[in-house]
Amino acid sequence: MLLKRTIDCGSLRKSDVGRNVILNGWVNRWRNHGGIFFINLRDRYGITQVVVDTETAEAPELAAICLQLRNEFCIAVEGAVRPRPADMVNPSMDTGEIEVLASRIEIFNKSEVLPFQVDEESNASEELRLKYRYLDLRSQAMQDRIKLRSEVTFAVREWMTSNGFYEIETPTFIRSTPEGARDFLVPSRLYPGKFYALPQSPQLYKQLLMVSGFDKYFQIARCYRDEDSRGDRQPEFTQIDIEMSFVDREDVLSMTEGLFNYIFKKTLNHELPPQFTRLSYEQAMELYGTDKPDLRFELKMQDFAPYVQDGDFQAFKDALAHEGGGVKALVVKGRADYSRKQIEELEAQAKIYRARGMAWMKVVSGTAMEGGVSKFFANNAAQIIKGLEAGQGDLILVVADVKRSVANTALGAVRSKLGRDLNLCDPKKFEFVWIVDFPMFEFNEDENRWEAAHHMFTWPQEKYHATMEQDPGSVKGDLYDLVLNGFELASGSIRIHDCELQKRIFNIVGFDSDEAEKKFGFLTGAFKYGAPPHGGIAPGLDRLVMIMAGLSSIKDVIAFPKNSFACSPMDDCPGEVDQKQLDELNIVIKAVPKDVQ
Ligand code: AMO
Repeated sequence: MLLKRTIDCGSLRKSDVGRNVILNGWVNRWRNHGGIFFINLRDRYGITQVVVDTETAEAPELAAICLQLRNEFCIAVEGAVRPRPADMVNPSMDTGEIEVLASRIEIFNKSEVLPFQVDEESNASEELRLKYRYLDLRSQAMQDRIKLRSEVTFAVREWMTSNGFYEIETPTFIRSTPEGARDFLVPSRLYPGKFYALPQSPQLYKQLLMVSGFDKYFQIARCYRDEDSRGDRQPEFTQIDIEMSFVDREDVLSMTEGLFNYIFKKTLNHELPPQFTRLSYEQAMELYGTDKPDLRFELKMQDFAPYVQDGDFQAFKDALAHEGGGVKALVVKGRADYSRKQIEELEAQAKIYRARGMAWMKVVSGTAMEGGVSKFFANNAAQIIKGLEAGQGDLILVVADVKRSVANTALGAVRSKLGRDLNLCDPKKFEFVWIVDFPMFEFNEDENRWEAAHHMFTWPQEKYHATMEQDPGSVKGDLYDLVLNGFELASGSIRIHDCELQKRIFNIVGFDSDEAEKKFGFLTGAFKYGAPPHGGIAPGLDRLVMIMAGLSSIKDVIAFPKNSFACSPMDDCPGEVDQKQLDELNIVIKAVPKDVQ
């Protein structure tokens, strides 16, 4: 390499004037002002303005080189640092007080015409950006995000190791075990007909590490799940996986709070509260209609049931006549000006979540309402307005259902839409909330059986141990989710370390002991040898960085993500393989269905 850099493109200041330097980087922008060339040279550290005065330059061939230059050429420049003329100083650039007067330029590599402009608000499609991801990653925005991700990862390692955690790798070729999502499988060449699975998480291994006495474990772990992609989901993603021995729920929660306090302070200089708000699962559902509430805005749901009997609206009465029915209300401050169309849009949102409809009323004074279903509540309007702490100019939205859970989730979805519509979700705010006391089991109506709400290794809270089998639906687990700005950031639990209790859980979810032995024998077997009480948690690293960067897609914080169809347009993956490879694996491909060809 001829012209090796002596300094990067972000460091030169006024105090460097007079130095001779060599810069290496990419042509960010390039202008020819009648024989004087201005090149903005960019690298990871910043941009420096290079000036080439072909009239006075020592090397006349510079002009010829400059005429060849185009955006994104990779070049080296040697020259003297000089102050910019006063009217050319650019205070918005770190290097804005100086420029480098070039004496030599070497072109390391040319660039073809780009498929889209780097560093401009391009309207290139996501597909194109992913196809040329290496170019997309050159943009300042992507560089900043990947930098933040690196800093967050480093902060995690710093905090974990200085708090006594060992970083331990666990295998990525494991046996397939049922864990919620579908496994990605890897065929074995040595054992035809057998498969490795890629881990959905290191769950079982981290528990085994506790049996081995490592006490405190963490890993920046790659996880693989064959499930549909969404904004906050990718088929491969990264967890900050954590497990601890001899702990109860409080220990895991406060450890996690310490970790996040450190990460946010270190990387964003942002102070978090030392302890995060806590809600039980039931409170979250009643107040926000979701177990992932966005607490950047208040807008709590309220119970409308106390006002139903004195009113005259039959649909609400019918809902309450059912055991387990519910009527829930939201008071939207100052939005009595909402048009019928806007209200219908909100209602459509409620209907997606299985509500049959959404009623509304507008508050016109401290004692009167109008519009919507208000005529049915003329008698007790004042009581409703006072009870719901509403006021003149507010909009009241009500969802009733024979299932209280439907009323909750449907109105909760309306609350979330209002949050977005009314710009209540400030991306600079970080509102953490713990959701605790989750039910252990959920009833799967399609399969007519109980299944684990999180996973089968969760410790049922002590008070339910005696009666679990009689009423699985009432059992609460020592299970917790950490929610940040409406996203599930982490989830974890205290685990079962007692084989007998584990067998009872397998039984409840209809896992017979042979099947359990076959699938999880290596874990339950290990528990026979003095397994310690233990528990842990796993925050998603991609989601964390996404929220910290104020974004809503994890693709934007992953260097090489998959698109929404689980493909990588850049390397055209997944791809076909040679017949020879298939033969070695003893695999025959059945005819590929037409709709996926
Ligand atoms: P869980 O399955 O809830 O728990 O995952 C923990 C966290 O991982 C992140 N996450 C994802 N991120 C991106 N794409 C995905 N497809 C995806 N799936 C999950 C989320 C989520 O909160 N072993 C347990 C943890 C434990 O109990 O310790 C587990 O994996 O941020």
